[in-house]
Amino acid sequence: MRLLIGFCILGLSWLTLVKTEPHKVVCYFGSWAVYRPGNGKIDISKLDPSLCTHMIYTFVGITDAGEVKVLDPWADLPDNGGKAGFQKFNALRKRHPGMKTLVAIGGWNEGSQKYSRVAGKPALRSHFAENAVDFVLKYKFDGLDIDWEYPNQRGGKPADVRNFVLLLKELRARFDEHNLILTAAVAAAEVSASLSYNIPSISKYLDFINIMTYDFHGSWDHITGHNTPLYPAKRETTAVSRGLNVNASVNYWLNHGVPARKLVLGTALYGRTFTLSNSRKYTPGSAASGPGRAGQYTRQPGMLGYNEICEQQSHSTWITAWDVEQRVPYAHYGDQWVSFDNVKSITEKANYVKKMGLGGAMVWSIETDDFGGVCGNKYPLLNALNRVLRVQ
Ligand SMILES: *[C@@H]1O[C@H](CO)[C@@H](O)[C@H](O)[C@H]1NC(C)=O
Repeated sequence: MRLLIGFCILGLSWLTLVKTEPHKVVCYFGSWAVYRPGNGKIDISKLDPSLCTHMIYTFVGITDAGEVKVLDPWADLPDNGGKAGFQKFNALRKRHPGMKTLVAIGGWNEGSQKYSRVAGKPALRSHFAENAVDFVLKYKFDGLDIDWEYPNQRGGKPADVRNFVLLLKELRARFDEHNLILTAAVAAAEVSASLSYNIPSISKYLDFINIMTYDFHGSWDHITGHNTPLYPAKRETTAVSRGLNVNASVNYWLNHGVPARKLVLGTALYGRTFTLSNSRKYTPGSAASGPGRAGQYTRQPGMLGYNEICEQQSHSTWITAWDVEQRVPYAHYGDQWVSFDNVKSITEKANYVKKMGLGGAMVWSIETDDFGGVCGNKYPLLNALNRVLRVQ
């Protein structure tokens, strides 16, 4: 009996411990989805905030003077009949108290050079830190996510690596005065991350780090390949190609000094598409002549939202296969080929988060899940992450 009670107390305290450190489910939101047609169009106030611990609005930009800049005033702000995206997004917290909202600065289209210049000058760094706090408070976000893609790349310079740390240090000090959250989205694979980051130093100043473990392969490769493989393929033999997967990237970051609980694993609610050179050669690693055809909502060759993939699969005879080695599905239809994530592969990634003791999972991005339930239950992929990471 005494043993049993002892065991129960131990069990209880273990439960309490687990409870105080819940996994994160971080949901990026691409605000341009408000312009999509038909089933692809998003109404921000109808997003489901209960599926995310954090939601991140993308993107705002930076000026040469080191100030945060609204990139799409009509979508983001209420002025002149605007759509008031920031307001609607932050109002989601009312429906799910405890959920935190951040705004992301940067992204691919912002490039690297302006960030490099601002981070390189002490006066611009502190002006930016001050301005960023004002911006976050003014629009009532809980924090800022830095998406500089990437320090010391795309027109940046070697000093960016150190300057990025100094920029985060300055931001951290200001953010602490107001209890704000500071995060960053980072390049995943060693081949890119090793150019850009002093991992122990950035980890010190960030609350958590969203590792962009996707876009490992795409039509730029000229052969079919997976967007988010968990592990390498046997046919991949070079050091670089063996690094282009989730497991290699996560281990690179862990071995270089990020605390596991600060690392939030990126998952993709979209696929990478290809046009096959020969419709009968469709295994991963087959020749591709270019990107796949654009989707009806995202309207961009070379990618499809999961919502588009599931809709297309319900209308025509796509053939789906499972890659046992790399733990992801792919599908083909005529000369079209897509690598993507489904409930099974997302569930394996969530289990990987647990196995590796990571802080949680991140999705890019919530508006390409099947949010409308067009193919079945609503948010099938985001729900799969929640089932593993948030429901005990
Ligand atoms: C994951 O990566 C680690 C470190 O490189 C390696 O030891 C392990 O075997 C990998 N796991 C699989 C299943 O490939």
